[in-house]
Amino acid sequence: MKTDAGITAIKGMRDLLPEDTAWFERLEGHAREIFALYNFDEIRTPVLEPAELFARAVGEETDIVGKEMYTFADRDGAMLTLRPEATASAVRAYIEHRLWERPGLTRLFYQGPMFRRERPQKGRYRQFYQIGAEVLGGDAPWIDFELLAMLRMLLERCGIEGAELVLNSVGCANDRPRYHAALREALAPRLPQMCADYQRRAQTNPLRVLDCKVPADQPIIAALPSILDYLDDRCREHFAELRRLLDGAGISYRLDPRMVRGLDYYTSTAFEFLHGALGAQNALLGGGRYDGLAQSLGAPANVGGGIGFALGEDRFVMAMQAAAGGTGQPPGPRALVVPITAAQLPPALALAERLRRGGVRVEMAPPDRKIGRSLELAAKLGAEAALLLGADEVREQRVTWKRLASGEQEKLDETALAARLGAGRSA
Ligand code: HAM
Repeated sequence: MKTDAGITAIKGMRDLLPEDTAWFERLEGHAREIFALYNFDEIRTPVLEPAELFARAVGEETDIVGKEMYTFADRDGAMLTLRPEATASAVRAYIEHRLWERPGLTRLFYQGPMFRRERPQKGRYRQFYQIGAEVLGGDAPWIDFELLAMLRMLLERCGIEGAELVLNSVGCANDRPRYHAALREALAPRLPQMCADYQRRAQTNPLRVLDCKVPADQPIIAALPSILDYLDDRCREHFAELRRLLDGAGISYRLDPRMVRGLDYYTSTAFEFLHGALGAQNALLGGGRYDGLAQSLGAPANVGGGIGFALGEDRFVMAMQAAAGGTGQPPGPRALVVPITAAQLPPALALAERLRRGGVRVEMAPPDRKIGRSLELAAKLGAEAALLLGADEVREQRVTWKRLASGEQEKLDETALAARLGAGRSA
């Protein structure tokens, strides 16, 4: 809706209202709990980064860098970009602060807004929210396994059923030239029928042709050689070991050799979790391994590889709501404190403060209103009780507790009131 000044949120960017943020918080709470179990710690990186970071890490030929970034010149001429993703930033920070010198693997998680100028639709926004995690400093297949096992736990904790793990290996710098050559050869006779963008990509970065979503191009893409036939020994063995570990733990997946992910930094393991309840934008999350990214951003050769994922919070919340059978309401106050006249406002404010210190979520009613109106407000807010404070109550140092559902009421001293409201439990 337009405001009087005609100002609305920017296209593709939306306000998350309390009924939305309650779900986002629930998801973030579950994620934090599970990250802690797997020994991840949080990193917060800037929302603005040098444009060059994403050009180098994500790749010039990707849709993200080529078409979707919010990039602008700062006042001193430096080119800045609103981050479209956070893996590049996490790896930049890992190098900048020499985190690889710390013992063991570096396990980082992050959460926050990302920006991509995509065509907005259900589940796709220009400002969207990701929760992601990166494991840096190692390249063994069991690390990949643990990340996928952690994601299974997170999906379970969020009550999301029926998400499908799609898995692939996209090879590495060692086998890419052979696969690129095979792709170019297979594409050559079909190129004139393909869209202009992909004709160019077939030359510059043929792997990106597999991202093509144009329906008419799909039969051509389906007939292209499979990347799995071009893996070198190391990548093949890495993938085989990961699959053995997943099979052994009963984590099922579908192999999709066309799933190459839309970012250039991936090597070997690549994965997505898809969900049927989401419509066209059905990727709940995506990730993969990126051995060599740290070196391309300036790390010494002995720094190990990395793997990570990011989930789209906007989409995860939709799947959680679908699983819960509705969008639900945010929790309201447990009680509404009602000063009958302005004279009782100070003691009512003091009572509300004491209840809050005891962990009870309460709201204040304005004084000097008909009690009926305050009771109506309490019911609309979803409160369980109204706490009436008139001159008598103040004199007797008691409060009239009125249960909204039944209308029953009782004068209670504050100890009894706190017990009734479950003070000390969480609000
Ligand atoms: P990505 O596949 O570009 O990967 O994004 C991850 C997830 O973010 C997607 O699966 C989707 O749920 C969500 N997402 C992406 N774009 C949008 C959008 N416009 N609106 C709403 N949700 C969106 C990455 O970003 C990588 N950094 C993941 C990663 C971490 N790989 C390794 N480490």
